[in-house]
Order: sequence, then structure tokens, then C-alpha cells
Amino acid sequence: MQFENTLAFARQLDAEDKLRKYRDAFHFPKIEGKDVIYFTGNSLGLQPKIARQYVDEILTDWADLAVEGHFHSDKPWWDYHERLAGPLAKVVGAHIDEVTVMNTLTVNLHFLMTSFYRPTAKRFKIICEEKAFPSDQYMLQSQVRFHGLDPDVAIVEVKKREGEHFWRTEDIVDKIEEVGDALALVLIGGVNYYSGQVFDMEKITKEGRSVGAFVGWDLAHAAGNIELKLHDWDVDFAAWCSYKYMNSGPGNASGIFVHERHLNKKDIPRFEGWWGTKKETRFLMKPEFEPMANADAWQVSNPPVLSLAPYLAALQLFEEVGMEALIEKRIRIVAYLEFILHEIDAEVDTTFEIITPSERGCQLSVLLHGGGKALFDYLMKEGVIIDWREPNVIRLAPAPFYCSYEDMFRFGQILKQGILEIGSV
Ligand SMILES: Cc1ncc(COP(=O)(O)O)c(C=O)c1O
Repeated sequence: MQFENTLAFARQLDAEDKLRKYRDAFHFPKIEGKDVIYFTGNSLGLQPKIARQYVDEILTDWADLAVEGHFHSDKPWWDYHERLAGPLAKVVGAHIDEVTVMNTLTVNLHFLMTSFYRPTAKRFKIICEEKAFPSDQYMLQSQVRFHGLDPDVAIVEVKKREGEHFWRTEDIVDKIEEVGDALALVLIGGVNYYSGQVFDMEKITKEGRSVGAFVGWDLAHAAGNIELKLHDWDVDFAAWCSYKYMNSGPGNASGIFVHERHLNKKDIPRFEGWWGTKKETRFLMKPEFEPMANADAWQVSNPPVLSLAPYLAALQLFEEVGMEALIEKRIRIVAYLEFILHEIDAEVDTTFEIITPSERGCQLSVLLHGGGKALFDYLMKEGVIIDWREPNVIRLAPAPFYCSYEDMFRFGQILKQGILEIGSV
């Protein structure tokens, strides 16, 4: 499609947008009475309006039923998390048994490492991407040290090539082959938080498993953003947070995936708690742990239903819309944003560079040269909510659920004005 950088054209795209009505399903922050242009759905998704109703329901049941709410509310609390597994399985391409919701993301990665990082004298190395999200780096380093190993030896980072902003799949594959028999685990962020690059998860998983390693993915920036087929790709495990593209609320619960070949096994090492033991016998309070036959075996504590309520509300919207429609709009709106950026770049005498490769999801990362921070401040002041990553990158993620094409056009106009006022970016 031939795009145009005009308000009329943007409005025409909005008129054709099948998801248009969902903008109104979310609360938009306002600046000077006007909806902001929200580009940080990759950081914290907007609040679905129905979230409050779901939370109120729990508060009401708590007030009216107190402890009886565990078993006798409309949505009983003791297995509340089970309601999320079905919709989530569709979002990440899994069987319902392979998915559950618990804890928060880094906590879950730690828990999953007890099952999937089992170093031996020979096989103890972990491959990850260089400059992984810091929490993942700390998690990996502390896990390695916990096993009495040296992170400098055990953690092998795949580097980007000189002058490039993205990882090449062949470099990851070569590294997997090079580490070979010593490789215990591959753990990478499926969509890179900084550049927005989408990794070839299918190929990397296949390669990692072919040398006998486990392969796991941090899907913080992938869940609800790109097509995932965790089961078919044979991924061993994955975890994601829900507050970005999944719109579940700040710091909210994480989802996990464990491939069915690891389910229902008594010999798999795992840190266990009472919510992972069989439902049928849980309240017999027996001393032996009998794992649930699904990913719930990794559950430790009873579910934090007040957090799960807005997550369930958000998932209801995913159920209604479906990943296919979200991805279709995401592809188009990101392409339109890219077009607008190129148009503005050509109209003003400036240099900025989109560092996101063509393997991308919702996010475009723009490297500014020169006085980028001043432009960032200008945009924020004008109601464009973006984020800044050192040394000179702004990240723009037009979440398809609620961003409009008109937002993209308006953003372009504000960007242009900012560049003209500031001089250089
Ligand atoms: C890629 C990635 N991994 C891990 C985390 C940490 O998430 P949490 O604080 O929920 O553990 C984030 C948070 O933004 C992230 O983007």
C-alpha cells in the first residue's frame, strides 16, 4: 500500500481499522485535556476499562464472603489462575496444560532455572545475547554462582557484529555448535528490549536442543506482540510479564510455559509449594508432594487473585480480538510509523536512524545523534509518551489494541516541529 503523510490518509486508515473500537476499551492518560500519543505499551500497557470491574468483583467477594470466597465465590479464588491458562495458551501458541500464571517474571525465570539449568562438570555453559535485559543478566549470574561456577566462564554471550545493531541467527547457531557438549542452556529474550529485534526462536530452539541443551525464552517483549508457537517450536520453557503488551497492570503476574514433555514427571528438580501439588489431595495436607499433571506443578503459593483479576480482564480482550487480528494491525501501523519517520527525516535536515531490523514486532527503536535528550523532553511535553534508553535511543511501540493511525500522523508533525525548534537531534 502506498502511504501518505496526511491527516486525511491517516483517518482513512483508521476508518478501515477493524480494531478501531478497542481504543475506547482502554483508559488513555490525557495532557491538557487531549489523549496522549502512547508509545510505551512495550513498557506498561494501558488499563482496560473492564479491569476495575474484575478487581471490584474480588473486593466484593472478599467483603461479603471472606474466607468462603476461596471456594464459594462466582469465580472461586483457589483455582482462579486456571481461568487464565486457556486464553494465554492461544497467545503464546501452547497447549493449555503447558501454561500457568504465577509470581513475577524474574522470579519465574529463577524458579524455572531450578528445573532447566542443571550444570554438570561437563555441561554447564549458558548462551545468552550480549547486553540482555539487566534483570536477566543478574538472574543468570546469580544462578551460575549459586552452583559454585564462575559467570565469566559459564556464561557465553553472543555478540552483534561490529557496526551492526542486531544479532545474526547464524552467529547464534555457530556459537551453539562451538559450545556443543558443554552447553546446558540457551536463554535469550525472544524480542530484544532495546532494539525490538525478533529472534528466530524456532531455529535457535532446534539448534540448542540438537546439541543436548535446554532452550528457554524470556518473552517479556514478545507475549501479546508477535506470533508465538512455543509448543510447535519445541521450546523447553518460557516466561513473560503481563504488564507490557498484555495490559494487565503495573508489576503484575507473569506467565510461564513448560513443554509437555517435561510435565507430569516426578524426577524433575523444582522448588515446590502447596499450590503445585494435586488439587484433589491438596487439602489432605499430606507430607508428600504429588505434582499437578500440568504446568501448575511449578505453582508455589496460592494465587494473588487481586493481581490476577485485571490480567484476566485483559485476556478477555485478547480472546475477543485474537492474535491474528492484532498482528495484522500491528504490521500495518508499525509500517506507517516507519514511513512517517522517513518522511520527517527527509523533510528536515537531520539524521536519525531506525536501528530495529526487519525481523520486528511492535517496536521501532530510533537512534538519535547529537542532542537527542532535548528532543525526548520536547516530545514528552507535547503529549507523546515515549521512553529513553541510554545512550541515545527512543523506543516507539504503537500497540495495535489502542493506537491509531492518526496518532502516527500527529506524532510526525510534533516530531518535525521539535526538530526544527531544537536544531539538531
Ligand atoms: C526483557 C525483560 N526481562 C525481564 C524483565 C523484568 O521483569 P520483572 O521486573 O517483572 O521481573 C523485563 C522488564 O521490563 C524485561 O523487559
